[in-house]
Amino acid sequence: ARVAVFVSGRGSNMAALLYASRLPDAAYEVVLVASNDPAAQALALATAEGVPTFALAHRGMARADHDAAMEQAARDAGAEYIALAGYMRILTPSFVAHWAGRMLNIHPSLLPKYPGLDTHARAIAAGDSEGGASVHLVTEDLDMGEVLGRIPVAIRPDETADGLAERVRLAEHQLYPRVLADYVSRPYDAAWLLERVRALAL
Ligand code: GRF
Repeated sequence: ARVAVFVSGRGSNMAALLYASRLPDAAYEVVLVASNDPAAQALALATAEGVPTFALAHRGMARADHDAAMEQAARDAGAEYIALAGYMRILTPSFVAHWAGRMLNIHPSLLPKYPGLDTHARAIAAGDSEGGASVHLVTEDLDMGEVLGRIPVAIRPDETADGLAERVRLAEHQLYPRVLADYVSRPYDAAWLLERVRALAL
């Protein structure tokens, strides 16, 4: 399967997805790394690794126009799936609808707990014994799509949000490539497809 990875920052998850795709018998290939931040570190790494990139600063652009440009880049690259990996923009409902069932995200909490920001600080403040990460399908409701996989990470005594974030990230790098590979390899689901077509209400 052909996957476009959308990033805004460091890109450690992008790196994990990319390197996993270079193992023998990988289920997907990374055909594009695209960003709303031309200075994102992830882009430099992708370029060094020979992966095509696309970057367009969102500042001063209407959200719909920016999404349309990202959409075009993904299409031009022949992407069948989009993997959001630290992409810090909320996508328009029409973009999300177009990629329904074909766009995944990684979120640094054990969803449905702690959608949104500051997940690690919130888990620590709540006295939770574990945090973690989840990979989910992207729907219009932020961080609320079907969860495809989760990985727990223990919260230690005197844990800091930064310390927890660092270990969760290590765990994310194990989780995301595996969940993405399993997802793109899933058996063809006729009932699901029919449901999707109905939902389009043509
Ligand atoms: C990850 O923690 C991910 O869960 C969140 O943003 C972070 C991205 O980190 N959505 P990186 O850019 O992949 O290093």
